[in-house]
Order: sequence, then C-alpha cells, then structure tokens
Amino acid sequence: MPETTPPTGPDGKNFTGNEKNEGLYSPGVLGKFYTPYVIWFSHRAAWGVSNKALHDNHRTHIGQNHLTVGPGNGYFLAKLPASTPLRTLRLLDLNRTCLDFTTQRVGRRFDTSTIEQDALAAWPVDDGTLDSVDCHMMIHTLRGDIIGDKEELVAQAARVLKPGGVFFGATILAQGPDVRPNALARKLMALYNGQSNTFSNANDSSSDLKKVLERHFSRVEFEVQGCTGVWVATK
Ligand SMILES: C[S@@+](CC[C@H](N)C(=O)[O-])C[C@H]1O[C@@H](n2cnc3c(N)ncnc32)[C@H](O)[C@@H]1O
Repeated sequence: MPETTPPTGPDGKNFTGNEKNEGLYSPGVLGKFYTPYVIWFSHRAAWGVSNKALHDNHRTHIGQNHLTVGPGNGYFLAKLPASTPLRTLRLLDLNRTCLDFTTQRVGRRFDTSTIEQDALAAWPVDDGTLDSVDCHMMIHTLRGDIIGDKEELVAQAARVLKPGGVFFGATILAQGPDVRPNALARKLMALYNGQSNTFSNANDSSSDLKKVLERHFSRVEFEVQGCTGVWVATK
C-alpha cells in the first residue's frame, strides 16, 4: 500500500531536503536506459565496482523482512534467487516512478509496500522491526557537503533494524583511503556534480563513511572497489 509522509525531520521539525528527479527516473529511462548504461556499463567502467559484488551483497545479506532505500528500477531485487529468504519488502524512494517500476517488477514475488519520501527524513517504520536494509548506489546523489550531512540515512537504518540486523550497500566516493577514480570516473563525477540534482559527492570520503557506519553499528565490513565504497554493517 502506498504511503506518503509529510516532510518532517527526525527531530519532528520541518525538513527541507532533497528534490524529486522524475526526469532522470522516468519510466522510459528506468525501462530502457538505466540497466545497460548505469548498471552494466558505468558500474564497472567508471565506478570500478563489480556487479557480482552487488549481487552477492543482496543474495547473502537480505532477510525475511527487508527495506530497500532507493530501488531505482529494482534490478538487483529482481535477480534474487528463488532460495532468497525475502518475503516482506518495503521500498523507500523520493521518486514515485522508481517505487511503481520496482513494484511492477517484483511485487508478484514479494509482499511489497512503498514509502514515498526523502531518505533523510524520519522513516515511518517502527524501531527494531526489520531483518535487513539495503541502500545501493544512491548516497552519492543525496544533497550534502560531506558524508556527515547524510548521516541520518544510516541512523534511520540502524533504528529500524532488529539487534543483529544488517545494513548493506554501496556508494560512489570522491576522496579518502583506497578511493581511486579512473579518468572516466573523474570526468563523469565533475560533470554530474556540476548538474543540478544529479550527484553531490565531491567531498564524500571513504574514511568519513566508515566512521559514520561505525558510529551506528557494532560490526562494519567496508571495502573500496575503484571509487565505490561497499559495506555490510551489523547492528
Ligand atoms: C542511482 S539510483 C540506484 C538504484 C538502485 N539502488 C541500484 O543500485 O540500481 C538512486 C535511487 O535513489 C533514489 N533517490 C535519490 N534521492 C533520494 C532521496 N533523497 N530519498 C530517497 N530516494 C532517493 C532514486 O529515486 C533512485 O531510485
């Protein structure tokens, strides 16, 4: 069932956060362009991250009661094997098109509901109720000067997970230990950071991301592939 929450921050005050990007995430783009250009080409050629690692993240860590932040076109959820423990799936996204597209793709397999809101506002999910949360390839699009400005997403994931629950994901980084953007990555990051409402990761660093994860989770596995930070954090 769709749910739209008012723009309220985690402290209950008014929240002016990120803006929708329905031009970029139109049904046409999600259906025809996103998988070949973003997932099959850019992940490997620009961001240096293997899709096998992202599939493995989903296959290994997804639990029965799961929430995906920023599902895009639902590609990785749609590729889960028949043996996946996933049963109840919540999708949280600022763009209605991504919620609808992904629901159409996986809604027959999983008991799926949607939350249309900014991931940096308080999530309408009870504390300690989920087995897993994932957030892949979206933190670099969130408005903010540094990773610390995006910390509320990590705090919300920690809040809604059960003890022992897992938060796993990946994001494109521009700085910090082990972050090695190739020439194409540097070119695309400069271009996308210069466009309104596309990337906002010029100061996102691997050390800051690791610190933020460690502040909210008791165990953090973190690695950098190319210029993409990939993590598995356990509450
Ligand atoms: C680059 S796509 C990643 C899609 C998918 N996770 C994947 O790995 O293929 C980013 C996703 O995050 C969503 N998104 C962007 N900003 C958001 C925000 N502030 N709050 C919630 N969702 C957001 C977009 O609508 C889109 O679904």
